[in-house]
Amino acid sequence: MSVGENIPHDSAVGHATGQSSFIDDRPEVQGEVFVGIVTSPVAHGKIKKIDFQEALQHPDVLAIFRGRDFHKNVWGTIVEEQPLLADPIVSYMDEPVLLIAVKDRQSLPAVRRLIKIEMEEIPSIFTIDEAVAAKKFSYVANPFVQGNVIETLQKSPHRLNGVFECGGQEHFYLENQAAIVYPLENGQLEIHSSSQHPTETQHLVAHAVGLRYCDVVSVVKRLGGGFGGKESQAAPFAAYAALVATKLKKPARCVLSKDEDMKITGKRHPFKIHYEVGFDDQGLLIALRAQLYSDGGAYTDLSPSILERAMFHLDGAYHIPNVEIKAACCRTNNHSNTAFRGFGAPQGNMAMESIMEDIAIYLKKDSFDIRRANCYGTHQRNVTPYGQCVENNQLPFLFDELYKISDYEKRSREIQAFNLEYSGKVRGLSMTATKFGIAFTARFLNQANALVNVHVDGTVQVSTGATEMGQGVNTKLAQIVADTFGIPSNMVRVMPTSTEKNHNTSPTAASSGADLNGAAVLEAASRIKQRLQGLDTKLSWTDLVKKAYLERISLGEYAHYKTPGLDFDKNVGKGKAFNYFTMGTAVTEVEVDEYTGESKVLRVDILMDIGRSINPGIDKGQVTGAFAQAMGWVTTEKLVYDQKRHLLSHSPTTYKIPSVQDTPPVLNVAFIENHTNTVNVHASKAVGEPPFVLGLSVWTAIKRAIGVRFSGKIIPLQSPATGEQILGLFKKMSSDSHK
Ligand code: MTE
Ligand code: HPA
Ligand code: MOS
Repeated sequence: MSVGENIPHDSAVGHATGQSSFIDDRPEVQGEVFVGIVTSPVAHGKIKKIDFQEALQHPDVLAIFRGRDFHKNVWGTIVEEQPLLADPIVSYMDEPVLLIAVKDRQSLPAVRRLIKIEMEEIPSIFTIDEAVAAKKFSYVANPFVQGNVIETLQKSPHRLNGVFECGGQEHFYLENQAAIVYPLENGQLEIHSSSQHPTETQHLVAHAVGLRYCDVVSVVKRLGGGFGGKESQAAPFAAYAALVATKLKKPARCVLSKDEDMKITGKRHPFKIHYEVGFDDQGLLIALRAQLYSDGGAYTDLSPSILERAMFHLDGAYHIPNVEIKAACCRTNNHSNTAFRGFGAPQGNMAMESIMEDIAIYLKKDSFDIRRANCYGTHQRNVTPYGQCVENNQLPFLFDELYKISDYEKRSREIQAFNLEYSGKVRGLSMTATKFGIAFTARFLNQANALVNVHVDGTVQVSTGATEMGQGVNTKLAQIVADTFGIPSNMVRVMPTSTEKNHNTSPTAASSGADLNGAAVLEAASRIKQRLQGLDTKLSWTDLVKKAYLERISLGEYAHYKTPGLDFDKNVGKGKAFNYFTMGTAVTEVEVDEYTGESKVLRVDILMDIGRSINPGIDKGQVTGAFAQAMGWVTTEKLVYDQKRHLLSHSPTTYKIPSVQDTPPVLNVAFIENHTNTVNVHASKAVGEPPFVLGLSVWTAIKRAIGVRFSGKIIPLQSPATGEQILGLFKKMSSDSHK
């Protein structure tokens, strides 16, 4: 047992009582210095002169460093091109330029005022359109092609074309970017940071200060949220602390304030998607041609992989017989955009769900019927645009079952009646779906290693490369080990992640933390169990372990796991990109106020196939959290900049994430029974990101509501559907219809 049980999150009590320790909770040690960051005052320019002489006189200031002080001032997960500190060219507003080592962080504002930076400005590119016009791309993907798009589009009875745009999103993790670096003997460093990728942090720090990997230990106990924002972009802040620690031979702490974090770090990629779609009288898709553009910001970062995942998920849950998907990533003078829950999939999937809603309005049909008709089949119509077959397809069942359990038909009729009764308010109902591909699309990342140590009192310590960021991976790993040994899960401790115990680890990302590390942990624990099986089986666990020790049987094991069968070929855009798909459907009912533009979610029903869940309680938390996070992205979370590209929405007062009041009053979450996903550990399925995509149903329901009000007209709604945008659309659509 243990696997499949609702064991509480291993930090549940700690988080609720405030006892869980985060980076900045670590007690200050003697001689510790704080590292402050000075950022660029322009979006694009050349540093002509920096004068910090006066700042150096400040009694709290120990030193000030520039990019040139690093052993190597360049980094990048995919392309090594991003300066740690811009020197001399700055490429986005608020890009880090200088580091100030101070005794007391309170003095930073005063010190910053003493620093003068003279810049020579260079013309900037801020929008996708400007970048496309100037052909500024950081990456152009090989297209996905299937069938004959040109010919079938021409022959399609109906055709629609359009442009779909969605905005970025701030991660808004509660713990901002943070790292502390302790100098050890012989120039070695010990890093504690809030990172989803301890190994990248180790590597970047080593490059930055000129150490070998064996001289840097990178430890992550937990993160106060990551959501992708600490996959690549946690590492530079550790490098800042490492530079100061190395130069001053003192422990150094770099912790950002919320405002700093929001201004400096990258966000979800905005996308602009041009498309042309052909379909028949029933709304069945015949052909789709799409060109995706993402705003990667100033540096490449993870943008190519994010762009590719958007291409992989453009189809959503729907079969497209003829398709051509082209994509490019724009280089702009914005903050360097990065991983964010869904990793491009929500952006791609959203364009398709928008198209589904448009087809329904155009053909004057319910959007459920359009989606259900186009849904991937179980034996036919089951090949994706990249040639992977959708195996074990639960989508038709998920659509039909949710239709029933959400009372769709009856509510749809009631909403129709409500909308006929003109009240200044309109309601919309919309069901969307996800078929989320599980695996890193970069094949080499699909590996993990685990260390399991059984102590003579029968308790167990487990170490893997997985980082705990709230998603509950530690609890799941403990359950897997406890289940293997047949002991209660509270006899198993999952230890802080450290590159000393687990090397060459992948980031905890792509929703695959529990998949990859869980499989490695299962292998290690199973080997220990096998060794114990030769001993007396009547003994209790603790006596068995003691006996094994006295018999000199090893009670520790290390194992490595790699996902088998992945063979996607980027050059031809075909192959098995994913190990399996996590699937789900969601139906959302909204009410939109025509006179204020305000939208309210009235009810949400979610049905998912997450296989045989290791911990249904934790998984339910992931589903509701992801849904709410997506709801924010598609409604209120608008990033606002001024003309110079200062981020104006850089704090909780100006950037509106969902609050308690925005929680849907009815939010039903259910899982189907499916024990057939044997390609993954204990037949479970990954859950971290897929339900984010289901939040799109909030947006499509809003689009539907407005569409119904102006029946037969395609509504050019973009994302986020803010009150302002909705109000503007109502005004525009009504004045157009009066013309
Ligand atoms: N849940 C919480 N509470 N906090 C987080 O930062 N990150 C999400 C998701 N759920 C996140 C979260 C993202 S982006 C990913 S990829 C997965 O968790 C990573 O963890 P897993 O692979 O163990 O599911
Ligand atoms: N998902 C999330 N993070 C990643 C991926 C991916 O597919 N590839 C590289 N980092
Ligand atoms: Mo998640 S965006 O893959 O960290």
